[in-house]
Amino acid sequence: MKMNSTRQLSETQMQTAFKSTKKANAALDLSVKSWFVIALTGQWAFALYILLVYVVSQFVGIELGNVVPAQSFKKADGVDLAFAFLHVIPAAYLSILGCTQLIPALRNNYRAFHRWNGRIFFTLGISGALTGLYLQWGAGFRLSDIGSLGITLNGILIPVAIFFAWKHAINKRFDLHMRWAVHSFLLVNAVWTFRLYLMGWYMVNQGPNGNNSTLDGPADIMLSFACYLLPMALAELYFWSKKQKHSKPIWWATSVMFVGALITLIGVVSAALMMWAPRINMVLQAL
Ligand code: HEM
Repeated sequence: MKMNSTRQLSETQMQTAFKSTKKANAALDLSVKSWFVIALTGQWAFALYILLVYVVSQFVGIELGNVVPAQSFKKADGVDLAFAFLHVIPAAYLSILGCTQLIPALRNNYRAFHRWNGRIFFTLGISGALTGLYLQWGAGFRLSDIGSLGITLNGILIPVAIFFAWKHAINKRFDLHMRWAVHSFLLVNAVWTFRLYLMGWYMVNQGPNGNNSTLDGPADIMLSFACYLLPMALAELYFWSKKQKHSKPIWWATSVMFVGALITLIGVVSAALMMWAPRINMVLQAL
């Protein structure tokens, strides 16, 4: 009789623990889905900005130097300018379709699309890293040496992460492929995240705070590394928490992931308002 009630008690405890882990996992997934919706909106806003400011502006007679934020673009010509366009314009494709690689339903039901979109993403990602490294160190598109180190490391890590993501896909190690592909995605999008973090930082501090015009202030340097290291750390936290059996660590990870989503939201709103909308408007008004 006593043994039966002890067994019943432990079964009830197990059921409660199971339910609580299930709830925590659902909250974790919600945090990632919230981030995804915010990121997708921000990525498409960035793509719209690239297409209007770097492509459409050329057809409506706007001087590129008057509408793009980068000073180096204003002085560039010949091969360097061609490289600059080759660097920037494919970013529109990456921003429009890159996110779709993360949607499980598309991965499972439209495999050919996932495969081809992935191949294009990886190829353009490597090309973006190499042309970026050339622009920065070959064509002299940099405001300062120290301020360029974060994006330089980013340019070195992109081909490394893509190499592993591609290799694991070919070898059908899809668990490892997904992990490296997510890191490739975050590294390739660091240029977008940097703009989010920089504008978000300005918004939260109501102006510059540790920033300067050559982007080598302490805050600029911190953000130039954080724009890929922080999202990559959050991705690792997510992968780790998916393996947890108890609810407590999953709840902790979920709270951190929600903070990550909030930072992305502040960044998207700030970059859209301060960086992209005014330039998009300039082009639209010239149409
Ligand atoms: C695949 C990853 C990358 C993508 C998708 C990408 C995309 C872009 C885009 C869209 C712009 C124009 C930004 C704007 O108007 O606000 C830009 C500018 C620039 N990128 Fe990249 N980029 C990538 C990686 C890199 C790397 C690794 C470097 C250098 C090591 C780099 C160096 C530059 C430079 C020098 C500029 C122009 C000046 C500036 O805004 O700082 N990019 N990139």
